[in-house]
Amino acid sequence: MAKKVLVIGACGQIGTELTMRLREMYGAEQVIASDIREGNDQLMQSGPFEQLDAMNKEQVEDVCLHYEIDEVFLMAAMLSATGEKFPKKAWNLNMDSLMNVLDLGREGKVEKIFWPSSIAVFGPTTPKENTPQHTIMEPTTVYGISKQTGERWCEYYHNKYGVDVRSIRYPGLISWKTQPGGGTTDYAVDIFHQAISKGSYECFLKPDTALPMMYMEDAIRATVEIMNADPTSIKERSSYNLSGMSFTPEEIAQEIKKNLPEFSISYRPDFRQEIADSWPGSIDDQQARKDWNWEHKYALDSMVQEMLQQLKTD
Ligand code: SER
Repeated sequence: MAKKVLVIGACGQIGTELTMRLREMYGAEQVIASDIREGNDQLMQSGPFEQLDAMNKEQVEDVCLHYEIDEVFLMAAMLSATGEKFPKKAWNLNMDSLMNVLDLGREGKVEKIFWPSSIAVFGPTTPKENTPQHTIMEPTTVYGISKQTGERWCEYYHNKYGVDVRSIRYPGLISWKTQPGGGTTDYAVDIFHQAISKGSYECFLKPDTALPMMYMEDAIRATVEIMNADPTSIKERSSYNLSGMSFTPEEIAQEIKKNLPEFSISYRPDFRQEIADSWPGSIDDQQARKDWNWEHKYALDSMVQEMLQQLKTD
């Protein structure tokens, strides 16, 4: 029998595209989308939807039992920039939602869990270039602290209770279908929308701020691949480093200019600069490549081409 999947946070930047991909793969009725709010028409009309609060264990459990869910993808979270404005809210949402799902795993009510971690687990004392899988992690944002703690819990639940939980440290994700919200890497999406609508962009980071990034297509494929990999190949039960590309605002602006010569960028760094400065510039993801054959496809130039093409015809 085909597996039943629940996506929590299905209306967000990653959740929307992940849900659509899983529906293509497993059949629309097999993939239950859920979120605290409704999503776009395509998502809402393409299969089942349940409104739920990821922090409410009873609600999450009811949906899992009702639909006989095998796999949960927990994509609900408050990101780095919003998290600094509402630290307690970010902590509660990010931790409670994870503990609810991990407990369902421990109780044998779901078989497999995907939970995303982030480059935000790293901090100013982490080696900045080619950041290794295992290294110093002293995050300075509440989002990073919640993700680092979450990683420890995932590993703990796997070791102590045999919970099959899998995780990736996503870099900044770039996509055209759904806008991100409240992240420090969001500039790399917004820049495209402004380039097309206004021909210019005011960036909230300095021109030379390098950050690890990835095109959404690669991130979704990585998510599906790690979930479908043989359990014995998953050696890291905290979370895997994952790398696609790395660039600065100046470099992405140059690449956009190649396609839109009139485009101009200006800079007005705000509080997000300090967050970006605490994160790595590039990531070493050898272990994901070795353990479950991860390979990225998109580089800066191919990503920019596709983003502009998709958004122009949208
Ligand atoms: N994209 C996230 C953020 O900027 C990092 O995981 O908060």
